[in-house]
Amino acid sequence: MILLALETSCDETSAAVIRNGRVLSSAVSSQIRLHSEYGGVVPELAAREHLRNLLPVTQTALRDARVKPGEMEAIAATRGPGLPGALMVGFQAAQAMAFALRVPFLGIHHHEAHLYSPWISGDPPAADFAAFQPNLSLIVSGGHTMLVQVESELNHHLLGSTVDDAAGECFDKIGKLIGLPYPAGPEIDRLSEHGDPKAYDFPRPMIHDGTDDFSFSGLKTSVRYFLRDHPGLPEEAQRLRDLCASVQAAIVDVLVAKAIKAALRLRVSCVTASGGVTSNRALRRQLTAACGRSHLELRLAPPGLCTDNAAMIGILAERKLAHGAKETGLEEEVLPNWQLDQAAASAP
Ligand code: KG4
Ligand code: ZN
Repeated sequence: MILLALETSCDETSAAVIRNGRVLSSAVSSQIRLHSEYGGVVPELAAREHLRNLLPVTQTALRDARVKPGEMEAIAATRGPGLPGALMVGFQAAQAMAFALRVPFLGIHHHEAHLYSPWISGDPPAADFAAFQPNLSLIVSGGHTMLVQVESELNHHLLGSTVDDAAGECFDKIGKLIGLPYPAGPEIDRLSEHGDPKAYDFPRPMIHDGTDDFSFSGLKTSVRYFLRDHPGLPEEAQRLRDLCASVQAAIVDVLVAKAIKAALRLRVSCVTASGGVTSNRALRRQLTAACGRSHLELRLAPPGLCTDNAAMIGILAERKLAHGAKETGLEEEVLPNWQLDQAAASAP
């Protein structure tokens, strides 16, 4: 099967062409520069920017894959969760294409696509579902932090999530306090490489509370107080690096400890991780080391597919269609608050 997928749930406009589990092309146009001026994503601007970028990005994906629109056998798009106006742009364009081409249309849950992205590997990337095994999955993005039990392919349920800020949001908000540009996650990652993670002691919220939930707003508050008590510290280059490394260590310690604990409790032999924060080098290193110590196999989403992209949407859509998933009607609408477990319940 050959399929075109679109993703417009937040601030990346993306299109990808998938054929029989292979990513033939993946085009992403990021709006980060536009939103950084405002210190975060502005929903109205995001929707307008998607409108402007969607067709050029789709044309790039089709050209890179050397295919014509008429060759598509199915169309997929992110249906939710996400910003309503942003979601609508990709979802309705995909419905119109499916209508014009008379091919099946499938709306995909954004986090479900992140959830299966660790099963994409290689260069060029391709799905590797033959290697699939039940796993404990950590999804860490700008808006969500979740632990999910994946019992079998396309069959999963949410164990816990953040009760306040998501891990990516925590990186971004703390970065803003320190004076780093939006999104601060990648910048904190870069500065931390030459910083001392033990320089400053920040709380690891809920690390040993025995639940699968997370909370990061207390960490943000403690950094705020720390900065109040140490004015001018971020202006000193090495101290800034130490501060970033210490903050990063607090976030990563919690994510790793909770993921490993849940995996051992569930007696699975595999851990997976996906979402924008999975690009973080300290998180990748520490998860690798912790899984090694506990004899757990680790599958991380490939670096290029951690942040939002249409390739993961297309790979999951194709897999679902192959498993007999019901098409999404052309009269259906976006679901900005779609819960992961509701998407799983509607799985074939
Ligand atoms: O999955 P994603 O692209 O978008 C959402 O669905 O939210 O994740 C974006 C988030 C942002 O908060 C960004 O700061 C964070 O991922 N991020 C990182 C890194 N790269 C992206 N956080 C820490 N270290 C990184 N290297
Ligand atoms: Zn995402």
